[in-house]
Amino acid sequence: MEKKLLVTSALPYANGDIHIGHLVEYIQTDIFVRFQKLIGNNCTYICADDTHGTPIMINAKKQGVPPEEFIAQFHQAHQDDFKRFLINFDYYGSTHTDENRILSEKIYHAAQDADAIDVRDIEQLYDQKESMFLPDRFVRGQCPKCNAADQYGDSCEVCSATYSPEDLVDPKSVVSGESPIKKTSTHYFFKLAQFESVIQQWLESDTVRPEIKNKLQEWFDTGLRDWDISRDAPYFGFKIPNTEDKFFYVWVDAPVGYISATQLWAASVNQNFLDFWKNDDVEIHHFIGKDILYFHTLFWPAMLHVGGYNLPTKVNIHGFLTVNGEKMSKSRGTFITARHFSDHLNPEFLRYYYAAKLSGSIDDIDLNLTAFMHKVNADVLGKFINIASRLGGILHKKCEGKLTTIDDQGQDLITQIQGQSEAIKAHYNDLAFHKAMMAIMECADWANKYIDDQAPWSVVKEDADKAAQIITAGLNACRLIALYLKPVLPGIVSGIESFLAIEPMVWSDGDRVIEDHPIQPYTHLAQRLQTEDIERLNLDDQD
Ligand code: MSP
Ligand code: ZN
Repeated sequence: MEKKLLVTSALPYANGDIHIGHLVEYIQTDIFVRFQKLIGNNCTYICADDTHGTPIMINAKKQGVPPEEFIAQFHQAHQDDFKRFLINFDYYGSTHTDENRILSEKIYHAAQDADAIDVRDIEQLYDQKESMFLPDRFVRGQCPKCNAADQYGDSCEVCSATYSPEDLVDPKSVVSGESPIKKTSTHYFFKLAQFESVIQQWLESDTVRPEIKNKLQEWFDTGLRDWDISRDAPYFGFKIPNTEDKFFYVWVDAPVGYISATQLWAASVNQNFLDFWKNDDVEIHHFIGKDILYFHTLFWPAMLHVGGYNLPTKVNIHGFLTVNGEKMSKSRGTFITARHFSDHLNPEFLRYYYAAKLSGSIDDIDLNLTAFMHKVNADVLGKFINIASRLGGILHKKCEGKLTTIDDQGQDLITQIQGQSEAIKAHYNDLAFHKAMMAIMECADWANKYIDDQAPWSVVKEDADKAAQIITAGLNACRLIALYLKPVLPGIVSGIESFLAIEPMVWSDGDRVIEDHPIQPYTHLAQRLQTEDIERLNLDDQD
């Protein structure tokens, strides 16, 4: 039966370019969504820019533009970058909309009605010169534990100690460089502990992987603390109703962006967003990185619950990208933006490489550029595209460019490859893309072995009909492999569909074969990677 799914990726901050680390997530989600659509499920992919908070406010000011203009630049740039990587959102919105403000206020009022909001005074570091309270990351000073100089206000990069900014020795404001003072202000708190049983129960239904559940258990064991949801002016965000100068902390309205973006998408296609967010028949799948797990597995389900919305069906959590075994770094030249990568290399190759690495676990994944080159050349070109280029040539030169019929031996190959369909489908569904890629490449190995053994280029000299049958089986194998790879390589596979002169394939097309069918001449679908291509990626400046 057809399933209805709403799928999201985390909303990237409108504060910088999309880089290849982000792409782990957007590519993973896009593959999942394309797969769901391919098998005939009703699946909608929603995302948006996350536009509020202190860093965006400060960077806009540095650029000398209003924050609205600053975020508009990134809204366009992000969409262009995603498009280059064939990431195909059904809707790409923004958290800076009236719809998002109204929905955020509604959830806040519902929390007030549920007696889940507490108001009390706290003391914080304050920059007198800039007249602003300083978030932890905007204070630097000496670590109170190990005395290392120039550490952030929340944790020490040298000894990993965590503390609060008031504990720093000789703290300085990152904004003005001045020594901050302590100042009292009234804050609004979300009483998270009130929702412990709701969250615990939600976690019982397979919403996160067991290893994540265990991690969350530690937080439950230490007790859920109140969550500070307010920030003082100046702040770029939504004002808290019935206050003069208090704003919602960005992490309040950011996830609400999932709902408001759904609302705007739904309105554009004459649907009601409540049919997605207040409907048990819909599965909601979030894809996020491990750094924002706390927000999505504790605060967010509590907010949804209090607001009367459905809780997510799945929160899929991936690890972080390393490049050549290390954290991405500007000085090592491994902080590669999406734009820079796609200026130099075929974006679909990155999609394939990530697919071959992604297991659905929280483990970090590594992009080793040499391994990347070898993997893509061996699999995408050597095993897959090669079938089309080799056989297409002979069919056109010697067999009038027409597929004929498949003989018994060819049928064995096809049956063998069709036999993998269910396993591959299950791997995609489980986010075990690495296993799906292995199974698909095994199919390609069978096809290549069949072609090598049958040697249609020799057979054609004596028996053109027999050669055409071999090629028909080989290209049908190629068609099935293309179908299985379609979520990962949509552009290349569309090229294969044109070459085979067939309509865009859906999963059930794998049950049949194409015979007695003229095809198009093979035209180049992708270029092998050379060492120089990789070197250029590293050497050329990123703008
Ligand atoms: N704005 C928040 C998310 C709000 S969701 C309601 C945010 N934005 S982000 O731009 O920093 O990150 C967006 C997503 O990209 C996150 O899921 C994050 O984990 C992921 N990644 C960012 N850098 C990454 C790597 N280096 N590697 C893998 N994923 C990375 O967080
Ligand atoms: Zn330290």
